[in-house]
Amino acid sequence: MLPERNQVLIVDDEPNLRKILSAQLTRDGYDVLTAEDGEQGLALLKEHHIDLVISDLKMPKVDGMTLLRKALVEDPELPVILITAHGTIDTAVEALKAGAFDFVTKPFDKDEVRQIVQKALKTRELRGADATPASGGQDARFGIIGSSQGILDLYAILERVADTPTTALITGESGTGKELVARALHEHSGRKDKPFIKVNCAAIPKELIESELFGYERGAFTGAVTSKPGRFELANGGTLFLDEIGEIPIEMQVKLLRALQESEFERVGGIKTIRVDVRLVAATNRDLKKLIAAGSFREDLFYRLNVVPVRLPALRERTGDIPLLVEHFLAKFNERLRKKVEGVEPDAMEILVSYPWPGNIRELENVIERAVLFCDTQKLRTIDLAAEIRGINAMTNVPLPEADLSAALAGEGGLKEHVKVAMSRLERELVSRALQQTGGNVTHAARLLKISRKGLQLKMKELGLREGSPDKGE
Ligand SMILES: Nc1ncnc2c1ncn2[C@@H]1O[C@H](COP(=O)(O)OP(=O)(O)OP(=O)(O)O)[C@@H](O)[C@H]1O
Ligand SMILES: [Mg+2]
Repeated sequence: MLPERNQVLIVDDEPNLRKILSAQLTRDGYDVLTAEDGEQGLALLKEHHIDLVISDLKMPKVDGMTLLRKALVEDPELPVILITAHGTIDTAVEALKAGAFDFVTKPFDKDEVRQIVQKALKTRELRGADATPASGGQDARFGIIGSSQGILDLYAILERVADTPTTALITGESGTGKELVARALHEHSGRKDKPFIKVNCAAIPKELIESELFGYERGAFTGAVTSKPGRFELANGGTLFLDEIGEIPIEMQVKLLRALQESEFERVGGIKTIRVDVRLVAATNRDLKKLIAAGSFREDLFYRLNVVPVRLPALRERTGDIPLLVEHFLAKFNERLRKKVEGVEPDAMEILVSYPWPGNIRELENVIERAVLFCDTQKLRTIDLAAEIRGINAMTNVPLPEADLSAALAGEGGLKEHVKVAMSRLERELVSRALQQTGGNVTHAARLLKISRKGLQLKMKELGLREGSPDKGE
């Protein structure tokens, strides 16, 4: 078999440059494809197996930076070389941070391009040799699965800030992946061989938090029989992850702020000032702005932390990612539980996609783990899914309020009437809840209730519920 020729894609809006480059690269033994703007370039990337891209930065439609970002989402190892005009070095540096292999400035000489191309292809080859495909494949950059806009935006932020000392504040509901992102920031920084130290601010008793963070000297308090370094010292050179930062007591916030601003502090009971080089990442599922308004979080600390805000979308805001995540967790639990579940039946997938996932990805992960465990067919079926997420069935198990039950027995009506009243109450509750969970979207709510849109509209009319935002009254 002949060795495969490497395929190079040239993207530039100047016909002359395309011609010269493509002639040279063809002579050097590469297969060459050309595109006249980023949009065409992306289309060719989708259709062909490309080993290397050389792209201009400034182009109509889709520019070089966007091409770079999108191309790397598809193939994180793809070498992209950018061509810049003089005076756009800043953009070039930004491009490197975003993952470009290298850049050349116009006018460039042949040998320079030749060398960079060779180096890039060599690097790709070497990387390819020891790369083990991650489960979830192409959609798992930074170990974070997804292809929704929210996740693409997240990738772009991570690209830009991972390898900087900048403080990041990660917010998102519980189970959205805050810790995963914090670790990704560390793993993709120059600090990755240094410690990643996590502190769960909610789990440490108020009186211990200072000594936990900053350490203490012997005799600082009863029980301090030896000195001990705090988490800031342990994280020196690496990353300190302050999880649940919203829970940190207000008295501690000033000290934390100072440590962040000056990169120095004293141990409890100590007089020596300690200096550290720590990259801080904080996370919270609380709304810090609200805490500030309520006086339990300092505004100055908030601004110091919020240099790079990273907001993780709730899973129900990116339902398109659910099938990918399901596939990822299926592979994970097949391996762990030694099972061979091949996929998910369509009706079960529909339930997975329309369930609102209050516990986000962690909840999804747990549901799939359990389902894989119980599954004894090739594919997961509705019946394998936990009752909670199968919805209505589960609600029949919820005990009714004690007061209602005794009132029913004490009252005049018989069983039939009570059942009728309970039914309509349940109906109203479910319909309003479905509307609430879907932000008043009748189509989605109908899907959740597994009735037609028309049917839901009739039901709403009957119950006196109006279309539009159901929680306006809040
Ligand atoms: N995009 C993702 N791709 C793959 N796995 C994910 C993703 N997001 C989260 N996970 C997984 O979901 C679980 C929960 O994530 P993580 O612990 O980071 O959430 P969290 O936001 O810190 O939650 P909490 O607020 O409850 O502490 C973890 O097992 C994590 O690996
Ligand atoms: Mg967490």
